[in-house]
Amino acid sequence: MMLDAARRLVAPSARSEVPPFMVMDVMAAAARIEAAGGRVIHLEVGQPAAGAPAPAIAAARAALGSGALGYTETLGIASLRARIARHYAERYRLDVAPDRIIVTTGSSAGFILAFLSMFEPGDRVAVAIPGYPPYRHILTALGCEPVPIETGADTRHAVTGDMIRSAHARKPLAGVLIASPANPTGTMMTPQALAELIEAAEAEGIRVISDEIYHGLDYAVPAETALRHSDRVTVINSFSKYYCMTGWRIGWMVAPEPLVRPIDRLQGNLAISVPTLSQIAAEAAFEGREALEAIKRGYQDNRRILTEGLPRAGLDNFLPADGAFYLYADISRFSDDSFNFAKRLLQEAHVAATPGVDFDPVNGKRFIRLCYAGSTADMAEAVERIGGWLARG
Ligand SMILES: Cc1ncc(COP(=O)(O)O)c(C=O)c1O
Repeated sequence: MMLDAARRLVAPSARSEVPPFMVMDVMAAAARIEAAGGRVIHLEVGQPAAGAPAPAIAAARAALGSGALGYTETLGIASLRARIARHYAERYRLDVAPDRIIVTTGSSAGFILAFLSMFEPGDRVAVAIPGYPPYRHILTALGCEPVPIETGADTRHAVTGDMIRSAHARKPLAGVLIASPANPTGTMMTPQALAELIEAAEAEGIRVISDEIYHGLDYAVPAETALRHSDRVTVINSFSKYYCMTGWRIGWMVAPEPLVRPIDRLQGNLAISVPTLSQIAAEAAFEGREALEAIKRGYQDNRRILTEGLPRAGLDNFLPADGAFYLYADISRFSDDSFNFAKRLLQEAHVAATPGVDFDPVNGKRFIRLCYAGSTADMAEAVERIGGWLARG
């Protein structure tokens, strides 16, 4: 009895029981190989190899020497919010009021704020499978119910209006979360598919969240913001990917006007404000456009090396790499266990990739995700190593 009571005092909550990222095991195994002197080619981690653009670093340096770096306004420094609003005018020719822009600690915090401000406990929210796992896990931790919608290559792995209507008819949905370009597939929604999905969801009273974190990294067609189609959607974005600022933990949301004050209250209580140094650097990052476009051209070279080289190496079945920096390859000709495949690829060829099971508990067994945000030389060598390894069997 005493033991039971004592155990209860340190027992974790049920809601904290979210699955870990399997890729962490791959990363740990890669680190062991490197510690023993091996050279691993890293295609597993979804982040740019480059650091923040020079104007961001310079602004951060100047800020360090010039002030106390105290808290900022909860919704973000006014000049940064205004700069983000200008970005919508410049990039999308859209007028977005700075008042609707909320600076967040990466898009990760944006999801928490969106889910808390939009949904009640128990609300059901549709997410595409395969998809970025934290969508499901954050929803679960907050007491909402993620509703996995299986997608296929026929819709470029996008959730469609029909899929939403039929899931909603089976059991009502409160929301749907979409992403284009998407992780792990690298596919994009066509502008038509995006318009159709938003229209279908809103007609049923289903709220839409659009994760636009990979905007800027679009190769097939220009990525379109969900804001083009509706002022009622919540858009989530970040400086992590295109702007190469993962570790700065800075992102933003564009919320419908009635959600701004609730998000202000939530963020004020949860975080007070977003790290000041990162906000200052982020505002200056917009001035690093030229260098960022050069980095994007590097991704395009990498993408070409992989899409041309992998079929020759034996991996000839992958989704169209429309955007982001991911290629999702079908490995079912070689294995029905992507975790084991990734483990052997790492141990025997020293190429680290992410098993698809992280993104899709069912069909992910047949896929691995390759991230091409590294150096061009590494991509060419990865193709060589994968080809040699598959040939050896
Ligand atoms: C699709 C997607 N959304 C959101 C994130 C979270 O990024 P951050 O919190 O760094 O903005 C990631 C990170 O990999 C991602 O791939």
